[in-house]
Amino acid sequence: MAISQQVFLRDAMRRMNLTRDVFAARIGVKRRALDTWLLPEGSQEARAMPEVVGRFVTEIVENGALMEKYAQSAQSGPLRDRIAVDSKHQLLSVDQFSRESVEELFRVADLMQPIARRRKVSRVLEGAVLGNLFFEASTRTRVSFGAAFCRLGGSVCDTTGFTFSSMAKGESIYDTSRVMSGYVDAMVVRHPERGSVAEFAAATNIPVVNGGDGAGEHPSQALLDLYTILTEFSRLGKLLDGAHIVMAGDLKYGRTVHSLIKLLALYRGMTFTLVSPEGLEMPSEIIEQSGRGGHTIHQTHSLRDGLKGADVIYATRVQKERLAGDEPGSYSSAFQVNRAIVDECCGPDVVVMHPLPRDSREGAFDLSTDLDHDPRLAIFRQADNGIPVRMAIFAVLMGVEGLVQHSLRDVTWAPPSHIGPDDSVFHGMY
Ligand code: NCD
Repeated sequence: MAISQQVFLRDAMRRMNLTRDVFAARIGVKRRALDTWLLPEGSQEARAMPEVVGRFVTEIVENGALMEKYAQSAQSGPLRDRIAVDSKHQLLSVDQFSRESVEELFRVADLMQPIARRRKVSRVLEGAVLGNLFFEASTRTRVSFGAAFCRLGGSVCDTTGFTFSSMAKGESIYDTSRVMSGYVDAMVVRHPERGSVAEFAAATNIPVVNGGDGAGEHPSQALLDLYTILTEFSRLGKLLDGAHIVMAGDLKYGRTVHSLIKLLALYRGMTFTLVSPEGLEMPSEIIEQSGRGGHTIHQTHSLRDGLKGADVIYATRVQKERLAGDEPGSYSSAFQVNRAIVDECCGPDVVVMHPLPRDSREGAFDLSTDLDHDPRLAIFRQADNGIPVRMAIFAVLMGVEGLVQHSLRDVTWAPPSHIGPDDSVFHGMY
């Protein structure tokens, strides 16, 4: 087995969505035996799993995946048709997804990992052109969408800001979108007004992806956030069903949390704790929609109270650019997610996330840099996941996901073994 037996077993439990007890019963072994196979190699109690058990687990995981695939294709056809908006292949809101379709997208993202990690190349989108239309500040969303398209063999044309586009001359969203459709094969749009990307999408038949519409939604960010949570949980041997997710910060204007809470609500028995400064609470309609599946939702203004028992802390920046005159433009020091408060309130397994950028200026009290070399901090692994997830979004919307596997070739250059200076700390995590 190329991967360790612990990673193999945890992955099997995640795919089958079973707890240790139920998984042990499913494969017909005692819970105690399973526990010893899951211990880190080298620990005194650790035991090697018999080969026959490994083969049996592989078989039931593969059969399960195959049955699911058959069932899905029999009832419903390609994923892009199942998530379509008015029969168009667009990604405007996380409301387009069910738990099944989101997990199907993640299986496509898994396929993209060798490309994202620079081991393989693919040209399945050769000849296609992406229009990246960003009318608001962006680094990672714009570049990672562009890089994702290029890594599938396509090319990218960018326009950034109003000043350098004809919108500065009074051109409407309809005209801009229709004209761009004559030039490019897909568009990613970021715009400061809620609902504006849907307006772009209504004026074209080419795929449009919402890269953030004001304080509305940011579906691709929420998808990569959920993908990150599932990946981190798989490493930690945790299930997402029943987890406690803490969202902290400007929940009123933060579009990433608006999308993420709705996506997480597709899982079962969640607990959400929403921690915000007074006046920056999560909009009530989103709380209402996310609470419908029988989840528990707490709201508090105290970070210390909110963080207790968290499985995930999702910190966010104050969305200064959207604040009304009298709203607070920075957090108080008591509101900062830093090492001291995480150590005090959470266990060693907590996953600390942030969509980035974090405001590192003095007095902003956004997520502290003192957690930077701590393995609980997942922010760079989270940002890295933007590539495979956005590649999966394009592959699905453009209907080429089935071609990827057989299109892979080895890269011709030698990428570094770890892309970030701290990444060797996580050696073996992936
Ligand atoms: C977020 C955004 O633009 O909504 N950034 C991002 O895309 N990763 C969060 C933010 O700007 O605070």
